[in-house]
This record gives sequence, C-alpha cells and structure tokens, in this order.
Amino acid sequence: QAIDKGEFPHYMLKEIHEQPLAVANTLEGRLGEDEVLVDALGPSARTLLGATRQIHLVACGTSYHAALVARYWLEELAGVPCQVEVASEYRYRRVVAPKGTLFVTLSQSGETADTLAALRHALSADAAAGGASYLGSLAICNVPGSSLAREATLALLTHAGPEIGVASTKAFTTQLTALMLLTLSLRQVRGGEPGLTARLVRRLRYLPTVLGDALALDEETAGLVDRFTEREHSLFLGRGVHFPIALEGALKLKEISYIHAEAFAAGELKHGPLALIAEGMPVVTVAPMDGLVEKLASNLQEVRARGGKVLAFADPDTGLASAEGLEVIWVPAVCRYIAPIVYSLPLQLLSYHVAVARGTDVDKPRNLAKSVTVE
Ligand code: G6P
Repeated sequence: QAIDKGEFPHYMLKEIHEQPLAVANTLEGRLGEDEVLVDALGPSARTLLGATRQIHLVACGTSYHAALVARYWLEELAGVPCQVEVASEYRYRRVVAPKGTLFVTLSQSGETADTLAALRHALSADAAAGGASYLGSLAICNVPGSSLAREATLALLTHAGPEIGVASTKAFTTQLTALMLLTLSLRQVRGGEPGLTARLVRRLRYLPTVLGDALALDEETAGLVDRFTEREHSLFLGRGVHFPIALEGALKLKEISYIHAEAFAAGELKHGPLALIAEGMPVVTVAPMDGLVEKLASNLQEVRARGGKVLAFADPDTGLASAEGLEVIWVPAVCRYIAPIVYSLPLQLLSYHVAVARGTDVDKPRNLAKSVTVE
C-alpha cells in the first residue's frame, strides 16, 4: 500500500529508497529514442516552449532548491535566461518580466500559499499591463488536480507518489527529473545540437539504475553519524550546479536533526564562512567529476588547514583521497549533468541517519508542516 511504511522504520527512509521507482515513473512515456517527447508535456507545450524567451522559476523550500539547479541546466543546455526566486519575495515585489517570459512554479503539494499567490500575482500584474509579458505558466507539481496544477496554463506532473515525511526527498529528485525534461524540451524546440540531447536522454533512461546504485551507500553513510551527533554547527559546500545541492543538503540536516547547517558556494569561503571554521567542525561537500573539481579541492584545503573535518561525497575520477581532515566516500561515476540528482541521495541518507542517532521525530520534525497553505 502506498502509504504504508512497509519494512522501513520511517516514511523518510522508505521515500529515499523509492527514488529509483519515482524517477522511472516520472520519465515514463516522456522519452523517445533520442529525444524528449515534447508533446507528452501537454498539448500546448510545443507552442509555449517555442515562444519562450526567458523563464522565471518560483518556489519555496526544497522546491526552490530544485529551481536553483534548473537555472544552471536551462542556461547551459537550452540557452534560456532564467531567474529563480522564493515565492514569498516574488509575490510582493514589482517584477519586470520581459516579453516572452514563461512563469514556472515548482511545488510538491501544489498548494503552498506563497507559490500560489506568486502565480496569481504574476497573472494579475500581467493582466493589468495588458497581458504582454508572461507567455503563460507551467506548474511542476506532484499532486494532480492541486490548485497550482489547475491554475497554470500547463502542468508537468512528477510521479513521486504520496510523500508523507515532512522533509522532502523523492519529490525533490522527481522535480529535478521533470526540470531536466523541460530543459531538454526547450533545447529541442530551439534547435540545439541533437547529439548531446540524445546522450542525455540515454543517461536519463539509465538514471533509475544509477540511483539504485547510490542507495547502496546507505550503510556506509550510517557509519558517519558520530561526526555530527554531538555537534551544533555544520557547513555544506558546493560549486556550480552542486551549490544548490549543498543548500538542499543543509536544509535536510537542519530540518530533521536540528543541527545548525549552512551552505555556501565554495568560492565564497573567503568572504566570511572561513571565520566559522573551528577545530573539528564538520564540513560536507559533493564532488562529482566536473570542470570545477580542482577549485573545490583547493577550497577544501582551506577548510582543513583551519581544523575543519571534511566529508566529501566524490566521484572516483576526481583523484580526491582520504587524508587528515578529509574523508572521501565514493559515489558511482555519473555524467555531470545528471550528477545533482544522484548526489542528492547520500546527503538525504546522511541527514536521516544523523537525525535517527539524535532521536528526533524524523518524519514530523518540530515546528514544520508538510504543506504550508497559509502565509
Ligand atoms: C514545506 C515543506 C517542505 C517543502 C516546502 C514547499 O516547508 O516542509 O518540504 O519543500 O513546504 O512545499 P511545496 O509543496 O510547495 O513543494
């Protein structure tokens, strides 16, 4: 039964382990041989995406982090300028949306008050201005028939299934999957070079298997919790598209373990965060194989030199090796575009095991709600 914990002690752990299936379900029927089936995104998808000149992505919480990842993809792979903002800010300011703006909301529940208000605000501001700037709206949601899905021009549903744990896991990775489908669709309608599109489509098809491999890190991750259980502060670092993955890793840890966790773009260390590094402070990072790994390695060196204890989830090809102040956990090798989806899993597992070790109410952390339907 979908809402049974089954063999798992918590919904969160069950939902973490459901990710290969949830992602496979989200891809189902949307991939052709060498391309994304754009028409599967909705009858008006091709027209809407063909006319899109820029995108405004608006969301809250974990969904906001998925949007931040998408900005890197949309600009690099589809060449579409992209702005990302939390809904509680977007809804209250006078946004300049140039002509041809596609307004995209991301929400697991499709009922988050601020996100819904941002959509209504955009549409009403646009109506007041003569309807010229926003082309239309797209809602990426996990709940069919939700308010956001109903009120948007187009709805791209994630098929994560019900998510019970307050801390979002499978909703996040399925949102990322849907956002990659959106990115590749835009790339296609804009005439992007088809070879890379075809390679990414093949990688997407293989993604559920890679996620399954990443889940094999469960036990090893559980063995790392003593680095955190007695700590009250931690840092998460990432570069490029993995900066938002670090943000999401920190959010997960603070939500369920109540350890203060901050995330920074690793290149920002010198501009403040280095002052926080004290002897023994846990610093978590993700290091897939990409063009920024050398820069990241030198950032980690700065942390270690000040007594920080780095935990790096890394691709074996990075050449990073465990040493004093640096513990490396291998993550299966994966293409750099898909890597943010895969690297989310060990961070979820880490937060989960730390929270269990600290004895918190993992599925219902204090003061938080699954869906924030009032302001
Ligand atoms: C709450 C939940 C988060 C979620 C956020 C946005 O804060 O605890 O897990 O990311 O709302 O929710 P949404 O349903 O819009 O994705």
